[in-house]
Amino acid sequence: LGYFTYDPGFMSTASCSSAITYIDGDEGVLMYRGYPIEQLAEHSTYLETCHLLLYGNLPSSDELSKFSRIIKEHSMLHEAIRRFYGGFRHDAHPMAIMVGVVGALSAFYHDNTDVHNPKHREISAHRLISKMPTIAAWSYKYATGQPFQYPDNNMGYTENFLKMMFSVPTEEYKPNPIFVRALDLILILHADHEQNASTSTVRLSGSSEANPFAAVSAGIASLWGPLHGGANEKVINMLEEIARTGDVNQYVKRAKDKDDPFRLMGFGHRVYKNYDPRAKIIRKMCHELLAELGAENQPLFDVALELERIATEDEYFVERKLYPNVDFYSGIILRAMGIPLNMFTVIFALARTVGWISHWNEMMDDPESRIGRPRQLYVGSAPREYVPIEQR
Ligand code: CMC
Repeated sequence: LGYFTYDPGFMSTASCSSAITYIDGDEGVLMYRGYPIEQLAEHSTYLETCHLLLYGNLPSSDELSKFSRIIKEHSMLHEAIRRFYGGFRHDAHPMAIMVGVVGALSAFYHDNTDVHNPKHREISAHRLISKMPTIAAWSYKYATGQPFQYPDNNMGYTENFLKMMFSVPTEEYKPNPIFVRALDLILILHADHEQNASTSTVRLSGSSEANPFAAVSAGIASLWGPLHGGANEKVINMLEEIARTGDVNQYVKRAKDKDDPFRLMGFGHRVYKNYDPRAKIIRKMCHELLAELGAENQPLFDVALELERIATEDEYFVERKLYPNVDFYSGIILRAMGIPLNMFTVIFALARTVGWISHWNEMMDDPESRIGRPRQLYVGSAPREYVPIEQR
């Protein structure tokens, strides 16, 4: 291997040092800036968690009011961006719209994207966190053909997102407080997860000193895949299919069959070889939310619980340490709230934006950071002579 370590999938390579998030995969521990995820889930709000991730400390009440005011100030999108939506096909996937619109922000804020200027970096972070709910909600409004709703800065961050998603100008809208709490919790749990594929993408693309909007847009593209953020959408497809056929065991059998590409979606994790602590918290929230909302969404949750029970007692899953991950139960909550399936990964992207931008910022401050440039093992042809086309 010469000078290089061959490590496909970066199974054992630390690409950076970071003070943001700690994971102990064997013990099922997750902490943001030293605070256990369970405590943040119980006591914090998404905006407070954003402050924690971005600045490294839980805000005092003055700091939180200031942060919240600044985030509100940036929630509008330029009217030219609004027109940008009209260029997409009516049935475009909202993640496709998001990749485009977030990347396009760099066309509007190029006077503030000197990546060596901490003030520029801070305002870019605020803009991204603040505009993401508007960008996400408008992608849904565009798909449904309903008028876009402007942000309402009298509302909290999460309430405002729900309002932009679900309100129409002809009716009074007040978000259900249980939905606000459930969604806020989902945002907290998805806010960061150290060097996952999308965060590493943001770091790698940002390492060339590309502007943060372009780097975050690259992160959104990476998140979209079904092995990463796209899994929450696939979990619901799978649970609905199982609920229709009524045969949980058949799917567990298929997942174990090496000749069948089917995997249990929402199961397994590169780092957690124990229960994903986020899945535990979301499962509890599922119980609470569904008890509140009535029976309609219960069958899908029952299938998920049964699948978990069978799989976690099965030798194949036990041996490989495959447990439910964050995506296994989150979709049930989103679906129960009336959020359409193709918006699930968009909500993940919205939540993860603060993580991406905190990592980008940390990297830009790190004197040891340099352009990311992995090496390869060349396995191609040995040197050979060029052959003129008529002699091939
Ligand atoms: N169903 C059945 N078998 C599985 C599964 C699964 N969901 N996940 C892993 N395995 C098996 C895999 O076939 C392999 O078996 P063997 O050793 O016999 O070849 C072994 O477990 C190790 O799997 P791997 O693919 O080498 O593990 P990885 O660390 O490369 O992949 C993963 C991790 C999350 C991509 C994978 O577990 C998976 O595909 N899960 C389903 C998709 C999913 O839920 N993704 C969300 C991840 S968490 C949130 C996020 O990142 O966005």
